Amino acid sequence: MIWKDPAAGPPIDSSADAPRPVSSPNLCTVLIAQISDCHIRDRASTFGRLVDTTETLIRVVEHLRALDPAPDVVLATGDLTDDGTSAQYSALRSILAPIADRIVPLPGNHDESREFRQAFADLLPDNLPKEHCSYVVDHHPVRLVGLDTTLPGRHDGRFDSSLESWLEESLTADARPTVVFTHFPPFETGLKFMDQSGLADADRLQATISRHPHVRLLVAGHLHRSIQTTINTTLVSICPSTGNQLKLDLHPDRAAAIDEPPAFQLHRWDGERFVTHTGLVRNPELVQTVDLGNYAAEVRRRHEAGEPFSKVVTS
Ligand SMILES: [Fe+2]
Ligand SMILES: [Fe+2]
Repeated sequence: MIWKDPAAGPPIDSSADAPRPVSSPNLCTVLIAQISDCHIRDRASTFGRLVDTTETLIRVVEHLRALDPAPDVVLATGDLTDDGTSAQYSALRSILAPIADRIVPLPGNHDESREFRQAFADLLPDNLPKEHCSYVVDHHPVRLVGLDTTLPGRHDGRFDSSLESWLEESLTADARPTVVFTHFPPFETGLKFMDQSGLADADRLQATISRHPHVRLLVAGHLHRSIQTTINTTLVSICPSTGNQLKLDLHPDRAAAIDEPPAFQLHRWDGERFVTHTGLVRNPELVQTVDLGNYAAEVRRRHEAGEPFSKVVTS
């Protein structure tokens, strides 16, 4: 049989003695989708004439709903509406309805705490603190700790000593692998205008995370781009927007939005580590795919038979 790996496929290791890829079928996996910065507006108005954020969120929700395997959880990390009005939350909830059973929401600087709490009353715990919308979700193999660092009437955020106490207590309570989800990323990204209006006391949050290495992943939004770094052994990842993205331009005096595709992230816990994927959701009418099912079936057959992935030269 001629087996030719497609150009788009992964490199094939032809050595029969090469170590086999490790798979851990018995480990407990959790699939955590993340959406962020949906910025739903009162009407289907566009952002800077670039993006209709209602239309793009509908498209992302449809994409998430069709994922197989389906995500166990969909974290929504803030700026879910543009102005925090009840009309915007009402529109948001109806767009999210197909995946409402797995949404775990957190506010961003564009949200309004009172309206946010009312809109998501059915999904938020009864014992939310009065001062912030931080809470813990405890019924998955990994703990989800939502950290709300927004400030009323402000577009920047703060991780003050009372939030530090709340987070310290929440993380000390359980040593299971943990995801912290929040809106403002606790590090400088190099997009200066965003860094300068970001999280005050980010170093305090970094120090708190560093004291708790069982925080295996910290996810945020706010930057409207996919950006990653580490805090000690913790992977830190920023999710792009489901609407408009910010242009990748690290010049300190420039800033622009750009019509890059709406996106989400998928954080896969395999029982040992998180792996983060970024999914782009382009207009379905413009998307082309090539089916690699036969190639994948042959890979699976060889893997299960213990056969080497030898290159086959075709004339
Ligand atoms: Fe945003
Ligand atoms: Fe934001």
